[in-house]
Amino acid sequence: MSSTLIQKLAVGLAFTAGSIPSANADVTTVIDAKSNRGTWEGWGTSLAWWAAVFGTRDDLADIFFTTKTVTFQGQSLPGLGFNIARYNAGASSWNSYNGSTMVVSPKIIPSRLVEGFWQDWASADPSSGSWKWSVDVNQRSMLSKARDRGADILELFSNSPMWWMCKNHNPSGSDDGSSDNLQSWNYQQHAVYLATIAKYAADNWNIRFQAVEPFNEPSANWWNGKSGTQEGCHFEASTQATVIGHLRAELNSRGLSSTIISASDESYYDEAVTTLNRLGSSALGSVARVNVHGYQYEQGRRDSVYSLASKAGKKIWQSEYGEADATGQRLATNLLLDMRWLQPTAWVYWQVLDGGGWGVIDADNDKKTLGAANQKYFVLAQFSRHIRPGMRILESGSDYTVAAYDAAARKLVLVAVNWGDAQYINFDLSKFGTPGVNGAVVKRWATQIGSGSRYVEQSDTKLSGNKFWSWFEKNMVQTFEVTGVVI
Ligand SMILES: *[C@@H]1O[C@H](CO)[C@@H](O)[C@H](O)[C@H]1NC(C)=O
Repeated sequence: MSSTLIQKLAVGLAFTAGSIPSANADVTTVIDAKSNRGTWEGWGTSLAWWAAVFGTRDDLADIFFTTKTVTFQGQSLPGLGFNIARYNAGASSWNSYNGSTMVVSPKIIPSRLVEGFWQDWASADPSSGSWKWSVDVNQRSMLSKARDRGADILELFSNSPMWWMCKNHNPSGSDDGSSDNLQSWNYQQHAVYLATIAKYAADNWNIRFQAVEPFNEPSANWWNGKSGTQEGCHFEASTQATVIGHLRAELNSRGLSSTIISASDESYYDEAVTTLNRLGSSALGSVARVNVHGYQYEQGRRDSVYSLASKAGKKIWQSEYGEADATGQRLATNLLLDMRWLQPTAWVYWQVLDGGGWGVIDADNDKKTLGAANQKYFVLAQFSRHIRPGMRILESGSDYTVAAYDAAARKLVLVAVNWGDAQYINFDLSKFGTPGVNGAVVKRWATQIGSGSRYVEQSDTKLSGNKFWSWFEKNMVQTFEVTGVVI
């Protein structure tokens, strides 16, 4: 018998025999209606490399930045509904000035050098010939398409200062990989660069960056000009503090005092903790949001990042997550860990188009080829299409469930993953003032992590008193929408 049939029979039985639901439920999670784990800001992606190649495509903009169903490579894709785009200010240019040219790592992957706007150090005046505003047209195109489709949180970030600001003129990092590469007399210039882009974007592109992030994984020891494959730059915490001070001043002096600074986009949770402890009160006071990456995966003290940031009154973003697991298993694992322990208010995938399982759609930026959406795409859709900006994140009562509440729509969204053997999961809404209408349909969507069901919608589940339940295959993620719920 197919598992789908077992599921239908089991669910059907449970409903007709309404008096025995709890006996059928193998596990139960109780949603805490009174809890508040923050207001959700949204989902997104960094643009950078994929957008610098494929940024003019409307179908991709629809796929990532709307919830429309889009036909792509013969597949019908439910749009991921992102509202966050991170725009990468490039560090590269191929001009020569006063006898200097950019030094390129022998291992560079060409599509990972992003052309920057400030091409020589003759003038800081953005209307002078030192600035080339026509570059990076594809990435800017996707940024505009995202905005046009409703992306309302845009962030400007930097992987490295412009090459000529760097000690070795190499935007992939210093010669040893673990020491600062920004020349000390350019600490302010890096801030001028980013603040000038933010101002120019507002005045000329109708792009208002909510935030500027001047670093990317600054404590890492792999930003090496001799072996690097991409742009990157190490910054000691004390250098970060100085640059943050300059950036705040440069934004303010351009009328951008409401543009916030996010930092420091460390690779690991534990590095974020160390950096937060080392930045110093002045710089920390200028950081409005703690951005952290998810490359420590199942390790590290997410809770310590939360505790430090929340004590300092700062929001947290999971601003970069990615891995090579196309099945969606690691994404689901780490997203659940983030929601439980890090408590971010936004979650941003690194490169949605990439090869080797790193993308949610397979792509080769250097060969300029596009492949198919993988299972990870649909696992992410289970979350991003339903937990929407403005919703209140609730304590879900378990480490396998995320709960979000839309007060205006009186809608409760639950996303749950069953890592164990196939079983029922029972969702207890007894803590809500009104847990919905008895007998009302609870819509559900299911994706089988690995392979199988891909965001399959069903209307076979009903609220029974103050609970409902659903059959989960092993490694299945399901999303539920319960309507008429009042806290
Ligand atoms: C150009 O290079 C010369 C020789 O290294 C140096 O003395 C001079 O200051 C440089 N000029 C500029 C504008 O950087």
